[in-house]
Amino acid sequence: MADTRALTRLARALHRRLEPPLTGLLLGVGRRLRLPVVSTRAPELARDLPRAWTRMLWQNELWRGNHWYGMPILQWPTDLLILQELVWEQKPRVIVETGTYRGGSAVFFASLLHLLGLDGRVISVDVHLAPEVAGSVARHPLGGRIDLVEGSSIAPETLRRVEELVGGEPNVLVFLDSDHTHAHVLAELRAYRRLVPVGGFLCAFDTIMKDLWDLPLGEPSWKEDNPHRAVLDFLAEDPAFEIDRRRNRLAVGFAPDGFLRRVC
Ligand SMILES: C[S@@+](CC[C@H](N)C(=O)[O-])C[C@H]1O[C@@H](n2cnc3c(N)ncnc32)[C@H](O)[C@@H]1O
Repeated sequence: MADTRALTRLARALHRRLEPPLTGLLLGVGRRLRLPVVSTRAPELARDLPRAWTRMLWQNELWRGNHWYGMPILQWPTDLLILQELVWEQKPRVIVETGTYRGGSAVFFASLLHLLGLDGRVISVDVHLAPEVAGSVARHPLGGRIDLVEGSSIAPETLRRVEELVGGEPNVLVFLDSDHTHAHVLAELRAYRRLVPVGGFLCAFDTIMKDLWDLPLGEPSWKEDNPHRAVLDFLAEDPAFEIDRRRNRLAVGFAPDGFLRRVC
């Protein structure tokens, strides 16, 4: 029998020193060998716990009541971490988001651009922008980086206004978080894909709805009518995009398979 303590020490030492793709490889090998450092000895837990936890946090509405830099934001922390990685990697000059709500995600993106020292801007679209939302965004220390656009995200006049504000800038990151019906998300993916450069990202949020439809705070219609199905339908018709599965790695989050990279 192998000395698992020595292997564990080796795996830990390598794990601390290696870059993510190599640690991923190491973890994969470790899992196969069932080393204690990387194996839970109960692989079903690794599969079932994230699902149970996500359903619990949805049912208890733990995603409500969170703030970013003083602004209410309807996001889960793991997703914000992944979005932060994308902004760091892409260094976008413009971030287009649909679904302003109360401005939290717009300020989140603006704060990342600010921290990066980039002269970037955020364009945030909502079908209804209450005056107090527009006011709190305008008064926010980072509000000067944010352009609010009122209108349905798929209406031709909204798309024209967004394109006008993008102004031909090629380095754009798109984040879709408005109406989460299949039809709307598919229409958004089709409409906003042209803003995304090769190597860039089109992010569709709340793909997790497919796993929440049977909860008391879910809707039976979500079983079929959800953003995840819109993503799959979009990918079937548009070979220029693919799911970046590495963005699923934190296991708990509202956007599994929702980070789409443009490959050509
Ligand atoms: C989930 S909230 C957005 C949360 C926000 N991104 C955040 O992180 O705090 C969805 C928002 O989409 C907006 N919305 C719904 N239908 C829309 C549409 N057709 N076009 C644009 N926005 C829409 C709603 O008014 C709501 O503010």
